Amino acid sequence: MNKRLITFLSVCLLLSGTASAELNNPGGNGGVQSLRGATELDQTRPAEALKKYPREQVLTSEYVYQPPLVPHNIRGYEVSLNANKCLSCHSWKNAKEMGATKISVTHYVNREDAVLADVSPRRYFCLQCHVPQANAKPLVENVFRPVESLR
Ligand code: HEC
Ligand code: HEC
Repeated sequence: MNKRLITFLSVCLLLSGTASAELNNPGGNGGVQSLRGATELDQTRPAEALKKYPREQVLTSEYVYQPPLVPHNIRGYEVSLNANKCLSCHSWKNAKEMGATKISVTHYVNREDAVLADVSPRRYFCLQCHVPQANAKPLVENVFRPVESLR
């Protein structure tokens, strides 16, 4: 057999192999796994159980200037163009009455370092920085250690 014919035949073999794999498992995940497990694309996995956010959990700071973790549930709290539920308790106007911590003055500073009369746009979407801490098992090991002064 000449070289060309051999190449041609092996390409045919390769192509028919791929085609049959696709026929056996159309829309499959191609063996890709994630830390949350593997799901074929044509199957719907049951949703994970909702996580708990224990109120008594101690949420300490691990580094200086860390946005404090949210020590309460935030399910259903809207933060959008039209409404900011967080500010209904945490704004300077409402904090006292609601018994919540006031947002600090840094939340009023814009990127030109001017102090505004209302929350700065760059601090409007609270959940960009503040997240509640669920009692969930970490998916990967975390070896972060706080700085000496916070230990
Ligand atoms: C119904 C009122 C209320 C709403 C709405 C609310 N909070 Fe709170 N928040 C509190 C109170 C009260 C505390 C004080 C701790 C506690 O009692 O849980 C607190 C504590 C916090 C703290 C910790 C502050 C500190 O000094 O460590 C953060 C951060 C926080 N909330 C963020 C948020 C974010 C982000 C939202 C919106 C997604 C939000 N909160 C919505 C009442 C509220
Ligand atoms: C860009 C990140 C960022 C965003 C967005 C942000 N924060 Fe913060 N927040 C911080 C950091 C950092 C701190 C701690 C240092 C400080 O006070 O500035 C903090 C502190 C706080 C504290 C504690 C204040 C204190 O005196 O101890 C509260 C309460 C809080 N934020 C609520 C909010 C709320 C409510 C929103 C949305 C309206 C918000 N934050 C948006 C970064 C952010």
